[in-house]
Amino acid sequence: MPKSNDTEAGLTGVSARRRPKQDVLEVGGRRLQPATLMMGHGYDPALSEGALKPPVFLTSTFAFESAAAGKRHFEQLTGLRAGEAEGLVYSRFNGPGQEILEGRLSIWDGGEDALAFSSGMSAIATLLLTHVRPGDTIVHSAPLYAATETLIGKVLARLGVHWRDFPAGASQAEIEAVLSSAGTSRVPLVFLESPSNPTNTLVDIEAVRAACDAVFPGARPLIAIDNTFLGPLWQRPLRHGADLVVYSLTKYVGGHSDLVAGAVVGAAATIAPIRAMRNTIGTITDPHSAWMLLRSLETLELRMSRAGENAAKVCEMLRSHPAVERVGYLSFLAEGSSQADIYRRHCSGAGSTFSLYLKGGEAEAFAFLDALRIAKLAVSLGGTETLASHPAAMTHLSVPADRKAALAITDNLVRISIGIENADDLIADFEQALAGR
Ligand SMILES: Cc1ncc(COP(=O)(O)O)c(C=O)c1O
Repeated sequence: MPKSNDTEAGLTGVSARRRPKQDVLEVGGRRLQPATLMMGHGYDPALSEGALKPPVFLTSTFAFESAAAGKRHFEQLTGLRAGEAEGLVYSRFNGPGQEILEGRLSIWDGGEDALAFSSGMSAIATLLLTHVRPGDTIVHSAPLYAATETLIGKVLARLGVHWRDFPAGASQAEIEAVLSSAGTSRVPLVFLESPSNPTNTLVDIEAVRAACDAVFPGARPLIAIDNTFLGPLWQRPLRHGADLVVYSLTKYVGGHSDLVAGAVVGAAATIAPIRAMRNTIGTITDPHSAWMLLRSLETLELRMSRAGENAAKVCEMLRSHPAVERVGYLSFLAEGSSQADIYRRHCSGAGSTFSLYLKGGEAEAFAFLDALRIAKLAVSLGGTETLASHPAAMTHLSVPADRKAALAITDNLVRISIGIENADDLIADFEQALAGR
């Protein structure tokens, strides 16, 4: 296991037991890149009748070689014996496909280990349940994905957990003030989402880390970040001071709008307690979804790169269209602004999900959405197909009016996730939809 959190320092993730002897991690002194490793890392065809691709193991439990081996596996599972599991026990804990998936997921962010979950929300819920106790305070950036806000603000609040937030984009001093305001309440976790949905505001991860170090010297809270919108290609938060990276794999990683799954990536010691919680409550992804995700990972870089290129072309057209008020796209951040500074330090691309503010209100936005011929009207993002939705009337319908206004969730806002279609076809679709309003 590498000591560092950075892929470039080494590779990881797949347990020694499953790591194929011929797993090629470098060639001629050149360390292989994630796009190459997604084809075979962590899988040995010799263990599965020579099958080039990992089979789907549909089994609820695994036979032990002997009673002593069963005892050893349980000692490792329950933490009585240190070290990696030597064998599989029961499918609520893990399975061959999920282990290979976790090994490959950890590569992109440069984490030592990863955990796959049945959804992004089950990943977040398992992470939070691992760390919070009654009386604690969770500090988070705002806004968060609506279900995450509900989980923290309503569900955990019922269990005596408090929360405080700071706006995404806050400075180190502002974050320090919020951290300090927790007073004597323990702060086990700082939870971030960047860019935030639907405002596309970036969180300064380095500033959050510096603020945590300043306010809690020697005993800072863990920093977890939901990296669903830009990860794992365009933002690698472990490099900027985060401890844990969280994903809805339903989005770019799954990438075909045909599955729901989640993940957490980080250092082995940080992942271990979350794994123990997952073992207890059974929030692991199923074998079939794990297999689909392995397939998706093989084209991850291709898909995300193409979607990013398409979005750049579409946004360029939209920005100068007379029916458009503003495009909230990360490449268009004002030069010299603090957001542009965070973007320069943290991101390697602007992604393919953005906010489009049309001239007019709900009627104009609805007319545009209804006129689209290629883009589908659906919530979600990161799939091969282009999707468009209306946050004020859909995902954020239940958000109180004053909070909507504060978050710039206005009636003329349309949220778009660009897919991998032909860019000129997409431009033609948006142009005809804007013209027909
Ligand atoms: C940023 C973000 N985090 C988490 C989630 C939840 O993921 P899932 O739907 O896979 O549970 C979503 C879903 O849209 C999301 O957009």
